[in-house]
Amino acid sequence: MAGNLVNSLLERLNLTSSTHGAPAQEPAEDELKTLRQKYEKAKQEHVFAFYDQLNTQEKASLFDQLSTFDPDRINVLADKALHPPTASGEEPSIEPLPESASASVLDASKEQTEEWYNAGLGHIAKNTVALVLMAGGQGTRLGSSDPKGCFDIGLPSHKSLFQMQAERILKLQQLAKHHASLSTEPIVPWYVMTSGPTRAPTEKYFEEHNYFGLSKENVIIFEQGVLPCISNEGKILMESKSKVAVAPDGNGGIYQALLTSDARSDMRKRGIEHIHAYCVDNCLVKVADPVFVGFAASKEVDIATKVVRKRAANESVGLIVQKNGKPDVVEYSEIDQEMAEAKDSSGLLKFRAANIVNHYYSFRCFDTIEEWAHKLPHHVAKKKIPYCDTETGESVKPEKPNGIKLEQFVFDVFPFIPMDKFACFEVDRKEEFSPLKNGKGSTEDNAETSKRDIMEQGARWLRSAGAVVVSEGDNAAGVEVSPLISYGGEGLDYLRGREIKAPAVIERSKDE
Ligand code: UD1
Repeated sequence: MAGNLVNSLLERLNLTSSTHGAPAQEPAEDELKTLRQKYEKAKQEHVFAFYDQLNTQEKASLFDQLSTFDPDRINVLADKALHPPTASGEEPSIEPLPESASASVLDASKEQTEEWYNAGLGHIAKNTVALVLMAGGQGTRLGSSDPKGCFDIGLPSHKSLFQMQAERILKLQQLAKHHASLSTEPIVPWYVMTSGPTRAPTEKYFEEHNYFGLSKENVIIFEQGVLPCISNEGKILMESKSKVAVAPDGNGGIYQALLTSDARSDMRKRGIEHIHAYCVDNCLVKVADPVFVGFAASKEVDIATKVVRKRAANESVGLIVQKNGKPDVVEYSEIDQEMAEAKDSSGLLKFRAANIVNHYYSFRCFDTIEEWAHKLPHHVAKKKIPYCDTETGESVKPEKPNGIKLEQFVFDVFPFIPMDKFACFEVDRKEEFSPLKNGKGSTEDNAETSKRDIMEQGARWLRSAGAVVVSEGDNAAGVEVSPLISYGGEGLDYLRGREIKAPAVIERSKDE
Protein backbone atom coordinates (compact mmCIF):
# COMPACT_ATOMS: atom_id res chain seq x y z
CA MET A 1 0.00 0.00 0.00
CA ALA A 2 2.77 2.40 1.02
CA GLY A 3 4.54 1.71 -2.30
CA ASN A 4 1.41 2.63 -4.23
CA LEU A 5 1.18 5.88 -2.44
CA VAL A 6 4.89 6.46 -2.89
CA ASN A 7 4.49 5.95 -6.62
CA SER A 8 1.65 8.39 -6.81
CA LEU A 9 3.65 10.77 -4.64
CA LEU A 10 6.53 10.58 -7.08
CA GLU A 11 4.18 11.21 -9.96
CA ARG A 12 2.76 14.18 -8.17
CA LEU A 13 6.19 15.49 -7.37
CA ASN A 14 7.17 15.20 -11.00
CA LEU A 15 4.04 17.06 -12.00
CA THR A 16 4.26 19.73 -9.38
CA SER A 17 7.98 20.25 -9.18
CA SER A 18 9.07 23.59 -10.56
CA THR A 19 11.95 21.81 -12.30
CA HIS A 20 9.34 20.19 -14.50
CA GLY A 21 7.74 23.47 -15.49
CA ALA A 22 4.47 23.53 -13.55
CA PRO A 23 4.62 25.49 -10.29
CA ALA A 24 3.87 23.65 -7.03
CA GLN A 25 0.50 24.32 -5.43
CA GLU A 26 -0.26 24.75 -1.78
CA PRO A 27 -2.40 21.92 -0.36
CA ALA A 28 -6.10 22.76 0.01
CA GLU A 29 -7.13 24.03 3.48
CA ASP A 30 -9.57 21.22 4.25
CA GLU A 31 -7.21 18.47 3.11
CA LEU A 32 -4.44 19.96 5.23
CA LYS A 33 -6.74 20.15 8.24
CA THR A 34 -7.75 16.50 7.90
CA LEU A 35 -4.15 15.40 7.62
CA ARG A 36 -3.07 17.49 10.61
CA GLN A 37 -5.87 15.99 12.70
CA LYS A 38 -4.76 12.48 11.79
CA TYR A 39 -1.23 13.18 13.03
CA GLU A 40 -2.50 15.04 16.11
CA LYS A 41 -4.69 12.09 17.03
CA ALA A 42 -1.67 9.82 16.73
CA LYS A 43 0.42 12.27 18.88
CA GLN A 44 2.80 12.81 15.97
CA GLU A 45 1.81 16.41 15.22
CA HIS A 46 5.42 17.65 15.61
CA VAL A 47 5.91 16.73 11.95
CA PHE A 48 4.03 19.97 11.16
CA ALA A 49 6.22 22.03 13.55
CA PHE A 50 7.66 24.24 10.80
CA TYR A 51 4.91 23.88 8.22
CA ASP A 52 3.78 27.52 8.37
CA GLN A 53 7.33 28.76 7.68
CA LEU A 54 7.78 26.65 4.55
CA ASN A 55 7.53 27.91 0.98
CA THR A 56 4.82 26.59 -1.34
CA GLN A 57 7.02 23.92 -2.89
CA GLU A 58 8.11 22.61 0.52
CA LYS A 59 4.56 22.68 1.87
CA ALA A 60 3.35 20.66 -1.09
CA SER A 61 6.13 18.14 -0.79
CA LEU A 62 5.76 17.66 2.99
CA PHE A 63 2.00 17.34 2.60
CA ASP A 64 2.48 14.70 -0.10
CA GLN A 65 5.04 12.78 1.93
CA LEU A 66 2.90 12.77 5.08
CA SER A 67 -0.12 11.64 3.06
CA THR A 68 1.73 8.45 2.14
CA PHE A 69 1.89 7.26 5.77
CA ASP A 70 -0.75 6.12 8.21
CA PRO A 71 0.49 7.52 11.57
CA ASP A 72 -1.66 5.06 13.56
CA ARG A 73 -0.05 2.12 11.80
CA ILE A 74 3.41 3.65 12.31
CA ASN A 75 2.63 3.94 16.04
CA VAL A 76 1.62 0.28 16.21
CA LEU A 77 4.81 -0.84 14.39
CA ALA A 78 7.02 1.45 16.49
CA ASP A 79 5.42 0.32 19.73
CA LYS A 80 5.92 -3.35 18.87
CA ALA A 81 9.49 -2.67 17.83
CA LEU A 82 10.45 -0.58 20.86
CA HIS A 83 8.58 -2.72 23.40
CA PRO A 84 8.82 -6.28 22.15
CA PRO A 85 6.66 -8.70 24.15
CA THR A 86 8.75 -10.35 26.87
CA ALA A 87 9.29 -14.04 26.24
CA SER A 88 6.53 -15.97 27.88
CA GLY A 89 5.81 -19.66 27.93
CA GLU A 90 7.95 -22.18 26.16
CA GLU A 91 11.07 -21.43 24.16
CA PRO A 92 10.54 -22.25 20.48
CA SER A 93 12.01 -25.54 19.33
CA ILE A 94 14.77 -24.86 16.79
CA GLU A 95 16.19 -27.76 14.82
CA PRO A 96 17.93 -28.25 11.47
CA LEU A 97 15.51 -28.85 8.57
CA PRO A 98 14.38 -32.47 8.11
CA GLU A 99 16.23 -34.45 5.45
CA SER A 100 13.06 -34.73 3.39
CA ALA A 101 13.19 -30.98 2.77
CA SER A 102 16.91 -30.84 1.96
CA ALA A 103 19.03 -31.73 -1.03
CA SER A 104 22.63 -31.04 -1.87
CA VAL A 105 24.24 -30.49 -5.20
CA LEU A 106 27.43 -31.70 -3.52
CA ASP A 107 25.94 -35.15 -2.87
CA ALA A 108 23.82 -35.48 -6.03
CA SER A 109 25.02 -37.76 -8.83
CA LYS A 110 26.23 -36.27 -12.10
CA GLU A 111 23.17 -37.71 -13.85
CA GLN A 112 20.81 -36.14 -11.31
CA THR A 113 22.44 -32.72 -11.62
CA GLU A 114 22.29 -32.94 -15.42
CA GLU A 115 18.64 -33.87 -15.25
CA TRP A 116 17.87 -30.77 -13.15
CA TYR A 117 20.06 -28.61 -15.43
CA ASN A 118 18.31 -29.77 -18.58
CA ALA A 119 14.89 -29.38 -17.00
CA GLY A 120 15.81 -25.84 -15.92
CA LEU A 121 17.02 -24.90 -19.41
CA GLY A 122 13.75 -26.34 -20.73
CA HIS A 123 11.76 -23.99 -18.47
CA ILE A 124 13.88 -21.04 -19.59
CA ALA A 125 13.36 -22.03 -23.23
CA LYS A 126 9.61 -21.87 -22.63
CA ASN A 127 9.92 -18.27 -21.35
CA THR A 128 8.56 -19.24 -17.95
CA VAL A 129 11.51 -18.18 -15.76
CA ALA A 130 12.01 -14.67 -14.33
CA LEU A 131 14.58 -13.03 -12.08
CA VAL A 132 14.02 -10.63 -9.23
CA LEU A 133 17.07 -8.76 -7.99
CA MET A 134 16.97 -7.15 -4.57
CA ALA A 135 19.06 -4.01 -4.95
CA GLY A 136 17.39 -1.56 -2.62
CA GLY A 137 19.95 -1.71 0.18
CA GLN A 138 22.07 1.33 0.90
CA GLY A 139 25.32 -0.60 1.31
CA THR A 140 26.36 1.40 4.37
CA ARG A 141 28.92 -1.23 5.45
CA LEU A 142 30.62 -1.01 2.05
CA GLY A 143 30.96 2.75 2.38
CA SER A 144 30.12 3.57 -1.26
CA SER A 145 27.41 6.06 -2.13
CA ASP A 146 26.64 4.40 -5.50
CA PRO A 147 24.25 1.46 -5.67
CA LYS A 148 26.20 -1.71 -4.84
CA GLY A 149 25.48 -3.19 -8.28
CA CYS A 150 27.61 -0.46 -9.92
CA PHE A 151 30.63 -1.42 -7.82
CA ASP A 152 33.85 -2.32 -9.63
CA ILE A 153 35.44 -5.15 -7.64
CA GLY A 154 38.72 -4.69 -9.48
CA LEU A 155 38.52 -7.41 -12.13
CA PRO A 156 40.83 -6.92 -15.13
CA SER A 157 37.71 -6.08 -17.20
CA HIS A 158 36.39 -3.70 -14.51
CA LYS A 159 32.92 -5.17 -14.98
CA SER A 160 30.46 -4.19 -12.27
CA LEU A 161 28.21 -6.61 -10.40
CA PHE A 162 25.24 -5.49 -12.54
CA GLN A 163 27.19 -6.13 -15.74
CA MET A 164 28.25 -9.64 -14.71
CA GLN A 165 24.65 -10.52 -13.88
CA ALA A 166 23.36 -9.06 -17.18
CA GLU A 167 25.94 -11.03 -19.17
CA ARG A 168 25.02 -14.24 -17.37
CA ILE A 169 21.40 -13.66 -18.39
CA LEU A 170 22.47 -13.13 -22.02
CA LYS A 171 24.52 -16.34 -21.95
CA LEU A 172 21.75 -18.33 -20.33
CA GLN A 173 19.24 -17.22 -22.97
CA GLN A 174 21.70 -18.44 -25.61
CA LEU A 175 22.22 -21.79 -23.85
CA ALA A 176 18.45 -22.33 -23.57
CA LYS A 177 17.99 -21.50 -27.25
CA HIS A 178 20.54 -24.17 -28.24
CA HIS A 179 19.17 -26.64 -25.72
CA ALA A 180 15.67 -26.46 -27.17
CA SER A 181 16.81 -25.84 -30.79
CA LEU A 182 14.79 -22.64 -30.95
CA SER A 183 15.10 -20.15 -33.77
CA THR A 184 15.15 -17.17 -31.41
CA GLU A 185 16.45 -16.69 -27.92
CA PRO A 186 13.99 -17.01 -25.06
CA ILE A 187 13.70 -14.18 -22.56
CA VAL A 188 14.48 -14.17 -18.86
CA PRO A 189 12.90 -10.91 -17.68
CA TRP A 190 14.91 -9.16 -15.00
CA TYR A 191 12.93 -7.31 -12.32
CA VAL A 192 15.30 -5.02 -10.45
CA MET A 193 14.04 -3.82 -7.09
CA THR A 194 15.50 -0.48 -6.07
CA SER A 195 14.62 1.96 -3.29
CA GLY A 196 14.33 5.74 -2.92
CA PRO A 197 18.10 6.18 -2.64
CA THR A 198 19.10 3.62 -5.32
CA ARG A 199 16.42 3.99 -8.03
CA ALA A 200 17.61 7.04 -9.99
CA PRO A 201 21.32 6.10 -10.02
CA THR A 202 20.44 2.51 -10.97
CA GLU A 203 18.26 3.65 -13.87
CA LYS A 204 20.94 6.06 -15.02
CA TYR A 205 23.60 3.35 -14.85
CA PHE A 206 21.57 0.90 -16.92
CA GLU A 207 20.70 3.61 -19.50
CA GLU A 208 24.32 4.71 -19.80
CA HIS A 209 25.43 1.12 -20.37
CA ASN A 210 22.66 0.35 -22.82
CA TYR A 211 21.28 -2.32 -20.49
CA PHE A 212 24.46 -4.33 -21.14
CA GLY A 213 22.96 -5.73 -24.32
CA LEU A 214 19.63 -6.79 -22.81
CA SER A 215 16.43 -5.32 -24.21
CA LYS A 216 15.21 -2.39 -22.15
CA GLU A 217 11.66 -3.78 -22.03
CA ASN A 218 12.95 -6.93 -20.33
CA VAL A 219 14.73 -5.05 -17.54
CA ILE A 220 11.99 -3.82 -15.25
CA ILE A 221 13.25 -1.44 -12.60
CA PHE A 222 10.81 -0.96 -9.73
CA GLU A 223 10.89 0.59 -6.29
CA GLN A 224 10.27 -0.74 -2.81
CA GLY A 225 8.49 1.26 -0.13
CA VAL A 226 9.90 3.33 2.69
CA LEU A 227 8.97 3.75 6.34
CA PRO A 228 9.64 6.72 8.62
CA CYS A 229 12.58 6.49 11.01
CA ILE A 230 11.46 6.55 14.62
CA SER A 231 13.12 8.08 17.69
CA ASN A 232 13.80 5.93 20.74
CA GLU A 233 10.72 7.62 22.23
CA GLY A 234 8.50 6.46 19.38
CA LYS A 235 8.32 9.80 17.53
CA ILE A 236 8.61 10.15 13.77
CA LEU A 237 12.00 11.75 13.01
CA MET A 238 12.26 14.68 10.61
CA GLU A 239 15.22 14.86 8.24
CA SER A 240 14.61 18.59 7.72
CA LYS A 241 11.84 21.07 8.41
CA SER A 242 10.01 19.89 5.31
CA LYS A 243 10.91 16.22 5.11
CA VAL A 244 10.36 13.11 7.20
CA ALA A 245 13.46 10.93 7.66
CA VAL A 246 12.68 7.68 5.87
CA ALA A 247 14.47 4.41 5.13
CA PRO A 248 13.71 1.53 2.73
CA ASP A 249 11.38 -1.00 4.36
CA GLY A 250 13.87 -3.90 4.18
CA ASN A 251 14.30 -6.59 1.53
CA GLY A 252 11.00 -8.09 2.72
CA GLY A 253 9.43 -5.01 1.11
CA ILE A 254 9.88 -6.99 -2.12
CA TYR A 255 6.47 -8.64 -1.84
CA GLN A 256 4.42 -5.47 -1.43
CA ALA A 257 6.53 -3.77 -4.08
CA LEU A 258 5.87 -6.57 -6.58
CA LEU A 259 2.17 -5.78 -6.22
CA THR A 260 2.25 -1.99 -6.15
CA SER A 261 4.73 -1.71 -9.01
CA ASP A 262 2.72 -4.06 -11.24
CA ALA A 263 5.78 -6.32 -11.57
CA ARG A 264 3.67 -9.32 -10.64
CA SER A 265 1.01 -8.44 -13.23
CA ASP A 266 3.78 -8.18 -15.80
CA MET A 267 4.99 -11.66 -14.81
CA ARG A 268 1.47 -12.97 -15.17
CA LYS A 269 1.15 -11.45 -18.65
CA ARG A 270 4.40 -13.08 -19.69
CA GLY A 271 3.32 -16.49 -18.39
CA ILE A 272 6.07 -16.73 -15.76
CA GLU A 273 5.93 -19.88 -13.60
CA HIS A 274 9.30 -19.91 -11.85
CA ILE A 275 11.08 -17.01 -10.17
CA HIS A 276 14.63 -16.75 -8.88
CA ALA A 277 15.15 -13.89 -6.40
CA TYR A 278 18.63 -12.96 -5.18
CA CYS A 279 20.80 -10.25 -3.66
CA VAL A 280 22.90 -7.82 -5.64
CA ASP A 281 26.07 -8.29 -3.62
CA ASN A 282 27.05 -11.85 -4.56
CA CYS A 283 29.53 -11.75 -7.47
CA LEU A 284 29.24 -15.52 -8.00
CA VAL A 285 25.44 -15.57 -8.18
CA LYS A 286 24.11 -18.03 -10.76
CA VAL A 287 21.19 -16.02 -12.02
CA ALA A 288 18.17 -18.17 -12.93
CA ASP A 289 20.39 -21.19 -12.23
CA PRO A 290 18.92 -23.99 -14.37
CA VAL A 291 19.97 -26.63 -11.81
CA PHE A 292 18.12 -24.80 -9.03
CA VAL A 293 15.05 -24.06 -11.15
CA GLY A 294 14.98 -27.64 -12.44
CA PHE A 295 15.33 -29.02 -8.91
CA ALA A 296 12.63 -26.80 -7.36
CA ALA A 297 10.20 -27.22 -10.25
CA SER A 298 10.59 -31.01 -10.18
CA LYS A 299 9.81 -31.04 -6.45
CA GLU A 300 6.80 -28.78 -7.10
CA VAL A 301 7.68 -26.66 -4.10
CA ASP A 302 6.46 -23.11 -3.56
CA ILE A 303 9.75 -21.88 -2.15
CA ALA A 304 13.23 -23.30 -2.29
CA THR A 305 16.31 -21.66 -0.87
CA LYS A 306 19.99 -22.16 -1.57
CA VAL A 307 22.36 -22.59 1.33
CA VAL A 308 26.08 -23.05 1.73
CA ARG A 309 27.91 -24.63 4.62
CA LYS A 310 28.61 -22.05 7.33
CA ARG A 311 32.32 -21.19 7.31
CA ALA A 312 32.75 -20.75 11.06
CA ALA A 313 30.56 -20.44 14.12
CA ASN A 314 30.85 -16.65 14.11
CA GLU A 315 30.14 -16.02 10.39
CA SER A 316 27.53 -13.25 9.86
CA VAL A 317 24.95 -15.28 7.98
CA GLY A 318 21.39 -16.26 8.73
CA LEU A 319 20.67 -19.97 9.21
CA ILE A 320 17.88 -22.01 7.65
CA VAL A 321 16.17 -24.00 10.40
CA GLN A 322 12.84 -25.40 11.39
CA LYS A 323 11.22 -23.46 14.19
CA ASN A 324 8.33 -25.26 15.86
CA GLY A 325 8.20 -27.53 12.81
CA LYS A 326 8.03 -24.69 10.27
CA PRO A 327 10.73 -23.55 7.86
CA ASP A 328 12.39 -20.40 9.15
CA VAL A 329 15.59 -18.36 9.26
CA VAL A 330 17.40 -17.33 12.38
CA GLU A 331 19.40 -14.17 11.68
CA TYR A 332 23.03 -13.95 12.77
CA SER A 333 22.12 -11.13 15.12
CA GLU A 334 19.50 -13.33 16.77
CA ILE A 335 21.42 -16.48 17.70
CA ASP A 336 23.36 -17.00 20.86
CA GLN A 337 26.88 -18.37 21.08
CA GLU A 338 25.79 -21.75 22.35
CA MET A 339 23.56 -22.31 19.36
CA ALA A 340 26.14 -20.92 16.94
CA GLU A 341 28.81 -23.33 18.23
CA ALA A 342 26.69 -26.47 18.75
CA LYS A 343 28.03 -29.55 16.89
CA ASP A 344 26.19 -32.62 15.65
CA SER A 345 27.33 -36.24 15.96
CA SER A 346 29.50 -35.92 12.85
CA GLY A 347 31.45 -33.09 14.44
CA LEU A 348 30.07 -30.48 12.02
CA LEU A 349 28.27 -27.34 13.18
CA LYS A 350 24.75 -28.48 14.00
CA PHE A 351 23.29 -25.36 12.43
CA ARG A 352 25.32 -24.88 9.28
CA ALA A 353 22.78 -24.22 6.53
CA ALA A 354 23.86 -20.64 5.80
CA ASN A 355 21.28 -18.52 4.06
CA ILE A 356 22.64 -16.93 0.88
CA VAL A 357 19.34 -15.27 -0.06
CA ASN A 358 18.86 -17.13 -3.32
CA HIS A 359 15.22 -18.08 -3.42
CA TYR A 360 13.07 -19.96 -5.87
CA TYR A 361 9.35 -19.09 -5.88
CA SER A 362 6.61 -20.74 -7.86
CA PHE A 363 4.29 -18.19 -9.43
CA ARG A 364 1.57 -19.95 -7.38
CA CYS A 365 3.29 -18.60 -4.31
CA PHE A 366 3.45 -15.05 -5.70
CA ASP A 367 -0.25 -15.36 -6.47
CA THR A 368 -0.97 -15.47 -2.73
CA ILE A 369 1.15 -12.45 -1.66
CA GLU A 370 -1.96 -10.55 -0.52
CA GLU A 371 -2.69 -13.31 2.01
CA TRP A 372 0.57 -13.08 3.93
CA ALA A 373 2.71 -10.03 3.03
CA HIS A 374 1.02 -7.80 5.61
CA LYS A 375 1.71 -10.40 8.30
CA LEU A 376 5.51 -10.28 7.95
CA PRO A 377 7.01 -8.84 11.14
CA HIS A 378 9.07 -5.65 11.29
CA HIS A 379 12.59 -6.00 12.62
CA VAL A 380 14.40 -3.23 14.40
CA ALA A 381 17.72 -1.77 13.35
CA LYS A 382 19.08 0.68 15.93
CA LYS A 383 20.85 3.46 14.03
CA LYS A 384 22.43 6.88 14.27
CA ILE A 385 19.86 8.87 12.36
CA PRO A 386 20.60 12.52 11.53
CA TYR A 387 17.50 14.58 12.28
CA CYS A 388 16.03 18.04 12.60
CA ASP A 389 15.13 18.96 16.17
CA THR A 390 11.48 20.00 16.00
CA GLU A 391 11.83 22.21 19.10
CA THR A 392 14.76 24.29 17.83
CA GLY A 393 14.90 23.60 14.08
CA GLU A 394 18.56 22.59 14.40
CA SER A 395 20.07 19.74 12.41
CA VAL A 396 21.58 17.10 14.69
CA LYS A 397 24.15 14.42 13.80
CA PRO A 398 23.95 11.97 16.70
CA GLU A 399 27.05 10.26 18.07
CA LYS A 400 25.18 7.18 19.27
CA PRO A 401 22.04 5.36 18.07
CA ASN A 402 19.11 7.72 18.60
CA GLY A 403 16.40 5.82 16.81
CA ILE A 404 15.31 2.85 14.80
CA LYS A 405 14.65 1.83 11.23
CA LEU A 406 11.93 -0.73 10.64
CA GLU A 407 12.65 -3.50 8.17
CA GLN A 408 10.91 -6.56 6.86
CA PHE A 409 13.03 -9.56 5.89
CA VAL A 410 12.52 -11.43 2.65
CA PHE A 411 12.66 -14.84 4.31
CA ASP A 412 9.98 -14.13 6.89
CA VAL A 413 7.53 -15.68 4.46
CA PHE A 414 9.08 -19.12 5.07
CA PRO A 415 6.95 -20.03 8.13
CA PHE A 416 3.82 -19.52 6.02
CA ILE A 417 4.91 -22.34 3.69
CA PRO A 418 4.09 -25.96 4.63
CA MET A 419 7.23 -28.07 5.04
CA ASP A 420 6.29 -30.27 2.06
CA LYS A 421 6.19 -27.19 -0.18
CA PHE A 422 9.59 -25.96 0.96
CA ALA A 423 13.06 -27.14 0.03
CA CYS A 424 16.59 -26.26 0.95
CA PHE A 425 19.32 -26.77 -1.65
CA GLU A 426 22.95 -26.93 -0.56
CA VAL A 427 25.43 -25.60 -3.12
CA ASP A 428 29.17 -25.28 -3.35
CA ARG A 429 30.25 -22.03 -1.70
CA LYS A 430 33.31 -21.57 -3.89
CA GLU A 431 31.13 -21.74 -7.02
CA GLU A 432 28.17 -19.73 -5.80
CA PHE A 433 28.70 -17.40 -2.89
CA SER A 434 31.08 -14.54 -2.35
CA PRO A 435 29.24 -11.46 -1.10
CA LEU A 436 30.48 -7.90 -1.18
CA LYS A 437 29.59 -6.51 2.22
CA ASN A 438 32.58 -4.68 3.65
CA GLY A 439 34.80 -1.82 2.63
CA LYS A 440 38.54 -1.30 2.50
CA GLY A 441 40.54 -2.53 5.46
CA SER A 442 38.20 -5.45 6.17
CA THR A 443 39.41 -9.03 6.07
CA GLU A 444 36.48 -10.76 4.41
CA ASP A 445 33.50 -10.33 2.09
CA ASN A 446 35.03 -7.31 0.41
CA ALA A 447 36.12 -6.28 -3.11
CA GLU A 448 39.41 -8.21 -2.86
CA THR A 449 37.76 -11.48 -1.83
CA SER A 450 35.10 -11.01 -4.54
CA LYS A 451 37.75 -10.53 -7.22
CA ARG A 452 39.83 -13.42 -5.89
CA ASP A 453 36.84 -15.78 -5.94
CA ILE A 454 35.89 -14.90 -9.54
CA MET A 455 39.50 -15.29 -10.73
CA GLU A 456 39.98 -18.59 -8.90
CA GLN A 457 36.72 -19.89 -10.31
CA GLY A 458 37.86 -19.02 -13.85
CA ALA A 459 41.16 -20.83 -13.34
CA ARG A 460 39.31 -23.89 -12.00
CA TRP A 461 36.97 -23.95 -14.98
CA LEU A 462 39.88 -23.75 -17.43
CA ARG A 463 41.82 -26.52 -15.68
CA SER A 464 38.83 -28.80 -15.72
CA ALA A 465 38.42 -28.07 -19.45
CA GLY A 466 42.00 -29.30 -19.89
CA ALA A 467 43.84 -25.98 -20.19
CA VAL A 468 47.10 -25.39 -18.36
CA VAL A 469 47.01 -22.29 -16.19
CA VAL A 470 50.42 -20.96 -15.26
CA SER A 471 51.40 -17.84 -13.46
CA GLU A 472 54.62 -16.01 -12.88
CA GLY A 473 54.98 -15.34 -9.20
CA ASP A 474 51.45 -14.78 -8.00
CA ASN A 475 49.94 -18.26 -7.69
CA ALA A 476 46.54 -16.85 -6.93
CA ALA A 477 46.46 -14.62 -10.02
CA GLY A 478 43.59 -16.54 -11.61
CA VAL A 479 41.60 -16.03 -14.79
CA GLU A 480 38.55 -13.90 -15.47
CA VAL A 481 36.21 -15.78 -17.78
CA SER A 482 33.62 -13.50 -19.34
CA PRO A 483 30.06 -14.64 -18.55
CA LEU A 484 29.38 -14.11 -22.26
CA ILE A 485 31.71 -17.08 -22.90
CA SER A 486 30.69 -19.35 -20.08
CA TYR A 487 27.82 -19.29 -17.60
CA GLY A 488 28.98 -22.08 -15.32
CA GLY A 489 32.22 -23.53 -16.75
CA GLU A 490 30.68 -24.97 -19.93
CA GLY A 491 31.94 -24.28 -23.46
CA LEU A 492 35.63 -23.98 -22.65
CA ASP A 493 36.76 -27.26 -24.24
CA TYR A 494 38.34 -25.38 -27.14
CA LEU A 495 41.06 -24.33 -24.70
CA ARG A 496 42.08 -27.95 -23.95
CA GLY A 497 45.86 -28.27 -23.91
CA ARG A 498 46.37 -24.51 -24.24
CA GLU A 499 48.65 -22.71 -21.85
CA ILE A 500 47.02 -19.67 -20.21
CA LYS A 501 49.25 -17.20 -18.38
CA ALA A 502 47.45 -15.87 -15.33
CA PRO A 503 46.27 -13.26 -14.64
CA ALA A 504 44.29 -13.49 -17.86
CA VAL A 505 40.90 -12.64 -19.28
CA ILE A 506 38.98 -15.02 -21.51
CA GLU A 507 36.58 -12.87 -23.44
CA ARG A 508 36.31 -14.53 -26.82
CA SER A 509 34.79 -17.85 -27.73
CA LYS A 510 36.34 -20.12 -30.33
CA ASP A 511 33.94 -18.80 -32.99
CA GLU A 512 35.06 -15.18 -32.71
C1 UD1 B 1 21.50 -10.95 4.28
C2 UD1 B 1 20.49 -11.92 4.89
C3 UD1 B 1 21.22 -12.97 5.71
C4 UD1 B 1 22.21 -13.68 4.79
C5 UD1 B 1 23.18 -12.68 4.16
C6 UD1 B 1 24.05 -13.39 3.11
C7 UD1 B 1 18.44 -10.66 5.06
C8 UD1 B 1 17.54 -9.87 5.93
N1 UD1 B 1 19.55 -11.17 5.66
O1 UD1 B 1 22.11 -10.27 5.38
O2 UD1 B 1 20.31 -13.91 6.25
O3 UD1 B 1 22.91 -14.71 5.45
O4 UD1 B 1 22.45 -11.63 3.48
O5 UD1 B 1 24.77 -12.51 2.35
O6 UD1 B 1 18.15 -10.88 3.88
N2 UD1 B 1 18.01 -4.93 0.35
C9 UD1 B 1 16.98 -4.34 -0.33
N3 UD1 B 1 16.20 -3.45 0.36
C10 UD1 B 1 16.41 -3.12 1.66
C11 UD1 B 1 17.49 -3.75 2.35
C12 UD1 B 1 18.28 -4.65 1.66
O7 UD1 B 1 16.75 -4.61 -1.51
O8 UD1 B 1 15.64 -2.33 2.21
C13 UD1 B 1 18.86 -5.90 -0.40
C14 UD1 B 1 20.30 -5.43 -0.52
O9 UD1 B 1 20.43 -4.57 -1.64
C15 UD1 B 1 21.02 -6.75 -0.68
C16 UD1 B 1 20.15 -7.72 0.14
O10 UD1 B 1 18.88 -7.12 0.31
O11 UD1 B 1 21.01 -7.15 -2.03
C17 UD1 B 1 20.76 -8.12 1.49
O12 UD1 B 1 20.84 -6.97 2.29
P1 UD1 B 1 21.96 -6.78 3.41
O13 UD1 B 1 21.54 -5.66 4.27
O14 UD1 B 1 23.30 -6.76 2.79
O15 UD1 B 1 21.78 -8.13 4.24
P2 UD1 B 1 22.76 -8.82 5.26
O16 UD1 B 1 22.62 -8.17 6.59
O17 UD1 B 1 24.12 -8.96 4.74
